[in-house]
Amino acid sequence: GRGVAMVTAVAARLAAHRRILEETLAPFQLNSEQLTAVQAQMREAMIRGLRGEASSLRMLPTYVRATPDGSERGDFLALDLGGTNFRVLLVRVAEGSVQIINQVYSIPECVAQGSGQKLFDHIVDCIVDFQKRQGLSGQSLPLGFTFSFPCKQLGLDQPWSGWCCCFSFLLWSVWLQGILLNWTKGFNASGCEGQDVVYLLREAIRRRQAVELNVVAIVNDTVGTMMSCGYDDPRCEMGLIVGTGTNACYMEELRNVASVPGDAGHMCINMEWGAFGDDGSLGMLSTCFDASVDQASINPGKQRFEKMISGMYLGEIVRHILLHLTDLGVLFRGQKTQRLQTRDIFKTKFLSEIESDSLALRQVRAILEDLGLTLTSDDALMVLEVCQAVSRRAAQLCGAGVAAVVEKIRENRGLRELTVSVGVDGTLYKLHPHFSRLVSATVQKLAPQCTVTFLQSEDGSGKGAALVTAVACRLTQTAHV
Ligand code: GLC
Repeated sequence: GRGVAMVTAVAARLAAHRRILEETLAPFQLNSEQLTAVQAQMREAMIRGLRGEASSLRMLPTYVRATPDGSERGDFLALDLGGTNFRVLLVRVAEGSVQIINQVYSIPECVAQGSGQKLFDHIVDCIVDFQKRQGLSGQSLPLGFTFSFPCKQLGLDQPWSGWCCCFSFLLWSVWLQGILLNWTKGFNASGCEGQDVVYLLREAIRRRQAVELNVVAIVNDTVGTMMSCGYDDPRCEMGLIVGTGTNACYMEELRNVASVPGDAGHMCINMEWGAFGDDGSLGMLSTCFDASVDQASINPGKQRFEKMISGMYLGEIVRHILLHLTDLGVLFRGQKTQRLQTRDIFKTKFLSEIESDSLALRQVRAILEDLGLTLTSDDALMVLEVCQAVSRRAAQLCGAGVAAVVEKIRENRGLRELTVSVGVDGTLYKLHPHFSRLVSATVQKLAPQCTVTFLQSEDGSGKGAALVTAVACRLTQTAHV
């Protein structure tokens, strides 16, 4: 009698919990109509952005006119700022091979969010340290700066650009300016927005009189990634990052780029797709958990697409869902620990680990217990399902974006079918066990006339910056003749 009643009560409670879990996760399950709508909206926003009309996509011209041709050579310094780590690199580009030595430096949060002067002084200190360690002090190698934030770049002085256009074999233009439009991700150093980043770096170099550095190029990480993959595969016409942040670039027809004169040829466009939806167009898809993550971030209302996709935020979305389910008594016996209430405690790395097929649920428990949570086996399973729902939505949204881009390239060329490669980098894309597969399945579904190959770049930021620098140098030298 009593035993049966207890079992029935437990079963009823579990069923109720399951229902709540399903209701909570339902908004994360996007159907194909929703994904098609995202793709269509992305396409519209791209076109408006290219025309210079109001759009959440900035569609920034990069003045990169072609992917590498393999003739690039030399030794370069490269900086990589804006991803998981800050790095200084020595890149040796020789015939058919690229060798990279790099050193990771940390940028403490107080520096990333302190004064701009302090940030750039810190960067120069790291370069000086790297030069010492590598025995490069006193040499002034050309330096390429992978700066992974939205920048308005300018083609060099007009006579130059004209000169470049005259010689179609010169595929590139040179630029030495990058106006930071706004910080994204975890950065918010004061006095930098609206400023030329190359100038800020040069000023810091001047303050540290000890070094001589020759800043030659500034490049977004998406562009570096496309370049580095393009070195091996000429079909690579798109770059994609899914790491701390997310963004994409691709080769657009110059005639479609309103802000750059000229009609012939192509130009790489930095989409800054992380900001997609900042005009409210993703409102339908945004859940209350997305809203909480956005509100608690250092840039509320900004980078709404990025906040649904990238590594800096997925763990936070999961944490907010877990808190909600705990409040409802569905998880952790209703006990909210202090740690679970701590921002950024649930690293996106945990999502990758929890969802990894080779890890038994027992290990999932170990990860969560490390967070001070005591859980039942039902809890472990539910946490797994939460992670899956969040990362799946991220991969599908990313896929819808890629589909919009490759379809645009196909239409631009008036092709019935397009074969194209996408260079990809970023910790989430590379480390998550299912993310990449889901992105490509979504692209296949939404862009059936495109055959898309994803190439994982090996150090796209470093290699790409060096390749861009190499060409910039070549052009500078030719110009002096
Ligand atoms: C952010 C930046 C963008 C960068 C991306 C990936 O979205 O604004 O420039 O490419 O992160 O690092």
